[in-house]
Amino acid sequence: MGAVGRYIEESQSGEVPIGSPPPLPELIDELGLRALVRRGGLDAAGFEPWLERVLENSVRLHHPALIAHQVAAPDVPAAIADLVHGAINQPTSVYEMGPAAHAMERVVVEWMTEKIGWPGGAGGVLTHGGSLATLTALLAARAAAAPDAWTDGVDGSMGVLAPPSAHYSVKRSVAMLGLGERAVVDLAVDEYERIVPDALEEALERCHEAGRRPMALVAAACATSTGLHDDLEAMGEFCRGHGIWFHADAAHGAPALLSPDHRQLLRGIETADSVVWDAHKMMRTSTLAAAVLVREDRRLEEAFRQKASYLIYEDSDEAAPSLLERQVECTKAPLGMRIFMNLAFRGEEGIGRHVAEQYEKTLRFWELISAREGFECLTRPESNILCFRYGRDPELQLRLRERLLHERRFHLSSAEVNGERWLRMTVMAPATTEETIAELIDAIERAASRTSGRRTARR
Ligand SMILES: Cc1ncc(COP(=O)(O)O)c(C=O)c1O
Repeated sequence: MGAVGRYIEESQSGEVPIGSPPPLPELIDELGLRALVRRGGLDAAGFEPWLERVLENSVRLHHPALIAHQVAAPDVPAAIADLVHGAINQPTSVYEMGPAAHAMERVVVEWMTEKIGWPGGAGGVLTHGGSLATLTALLAARAAAAPDAWTDGVDGSMGVLAPPSAHYSVKRSVAMLGLGERAVVDLAVDEYERIVPDALEEALERCHEAGRRPMALVAAACATSTGLHDDLEAMGEFCRGHGIWFHADAAHGAPALLSPDHRQLLRGIETADSVVWDAHKMMRTSTLAAAVLVREDRRLEEAFRQKASYLIYEDSDEAAPSLLERQVECTKAPLGMRIFMNLAFRGEEGIGRHVAEQYEKTLRFWELISAREGFECLTRPESNILCFRYGRDPELQLRLRERLLHERRFHLSSAEVNGERWLRMTVMAPATTEETIAELIDAIERAASRTSGRRTARR
């Protein structure tokens, strides 16, 4: 496994090109996957060279130029947790099937609810990802609004207030819960796609006019595309005033609660009825480790009305509990172990520092990029996500992204905000520095002159 250590060190140094995968069929051939899966034979002698090729075709998340997606460069303790679990296999749903791992999940969830600032009586569960956590949160909201929906189904009379910029898992969950996509009533947003608090009443009226009663309101902290935060305080107040379930999607931003200088971004999160918190984004765990958290613990159990006596023990009690009554999954990986190990090693202050460092670096990158002629940023970033562009041609942004990836120099993503195309960076790796961004700016200028030159030549 020395190869993995070398791979990470090389990636952190930034001295190797980032990966640029061949077309999928070629990669399947190159790694010999079809033959290996059918005939086996990957023995000790063959493993190291084969692993080298796997690594060569993997994404170097520790690399400074890897600034595309909200995927963590995992920290060492979380990686050790994965190795331990891989060897001893501890599913966590039922205490007796993985006692220590189960205990870690309980303690991590309890700690998360404290960080949100909820009083006693809050609870939650870890899930395989934020999308599943969102589904679970909205299931709990549905149970609160229509307790019999579990047995009788839904009748098209419920609505969910959410901005068009909400993560797609929101609309997907609404559809999966049987409400139908049309149940989502769009909240008005500003030019940066943040919910406009003053327009909430108008959205509620639209919801009623459509013959629907609001089941939940969803706000983001922070939004996937822009990294900007909705005003959770205003949302909470509005929802309380109207008796609407308030769901805060803090999949990306919740760990900012651990940074004294950034926790105000989430002011009002304690007024939410449910919160989604992904640890595999800003808490440096491998995928996946998410949480669905509820202000009132009983809401999760009320969400699932099923009894399966062969799994859910009647005598499930505090000493030997089960999570099956409150989650979608049956068997579940020890997600809490990854989160716990990073916390146990770095402390919440250490993780908070990691978040603060990425957020503060992104602010400096915004200054650097904004100062360069020809470049423009969407707005001052509030997190480690920054939208920017070179010129205004939407096609150019896409070509630049492709070109940089093709050159194996930088991996950026792209987002459409308010109908306009932007390049998007997400600063996840500690190794990314101002030097990285200075090189990125130069590389974009060069790539732009080459792509426009080529286009001119072709014409
Ligand atoms: C705001 C937000 N919510 C939910 C999700 C979904 O989380 P996951 O990818 O863990 O399913 C994401 C993922 O990018 C996100 O950014």
